Amino acid sequence: MAPSQEHLKITPTKDGSTTLYSPQFKQHYHNPNGAVAESRHVFFETPGVPDAILRNETTVIFETGFGTGLNLLLLLEYLNQSSQKSKAVYYSVEAFPVDATTAMHFDFGDNPFLNHNKMLLVDIFGSLKPGLNAIEISGQITLHLFIGYFDQFFKQVFINKRVDCIFHDAFSPEVNADLWTADVFRNLANVCKNDAVLSTYCAATSARAAMAASGWFVARAKGALGKREMTIASLNPEKLAAFKRVDESRLAERYINREF
Ligand SMILES: C[S@@+](CC[C@H](N)C(=O)[O-])C[C@H]1O[C@@H](n2cnc3c(N)ncnc32)[C@H](O)[C@@H]1O
Repeated sequence: MAPSQEHLKITPTKDGSTTLYSPQFKQHYHNPNGAVAESRHVFFETPGVPDAILRNETTVIFETGFGTGLNLLLLLEYLNQSSQKSKAVYYSVEAFPVDATTAMHFDFGDNPFLNHNKMLLVDIFGSLKPGLNAIEISGQITLHLFIGYFDQFFKQVFINKRVDCIFHDAFSPEVNADLWTADVFRNLANVCKNDAVLSTYCAATSARAAMAASGWFVARAKGALGKREMTIASLNPEKLAAFKRVDESRLAERYINREF
């Protein structure tokens, strides 16, 4: 197994929730202006996850980079708030898992639900083994957390085109370039339903070009907390009708010509 992240530093963000700083990648896990607020905006509200939860009996999500597990806890909160008794299957991959002692120090600010459920994360981090970990959470979420590298996941785990939402939450392309290639987005496309939606905080042209080169339709969306833009993508262009699309063929051409 890849080693745990060493010397991760817990840092407060401006909405009162904590994030981590990774000395290995020299980057925070979330926007310093608000970890919870950013995750809600980028991965839940903009791609319409609350509606997907209402529509589907079971919503299937794939996350790149489990990190602190914040998105998993937010999903549990959305499922609890939903009037339907819907469920979720949550696939996530993490090469450098946080240890349980670090998770004990997470703070979700003024959100009582997240703070109350923090011990779920502590228990998860305390029980992880290399490879695929299947964990039932409150009868509402089946978590399949792969401890290993992203590309190993796709060699070892088969998901039959059933993913509704992708949370692409890698560190930025400058420091984590291997998670922003056309091959990565092709692997993600291969596990998705045709009208799945991919969201990411990243608005880099190179990232959008890699998506376009692997068959995704790509659009700009309003960024979180002072960031001008984020990116949303789908294999079905109708899912992006509310957003301003980029010129995918031009970007794909630039990617193929190795302009990035
Ligand atoms: C931005 S953080 C994820 C934040 C997380 N979603 C959260 O809410 O806390 C990126 C994560 O990707 C992980 N990572 C980096 N490279 C990876 C790789 N090649 N395969 C799997 N995970 C990787 C890092 O260890 C880190 O936890």
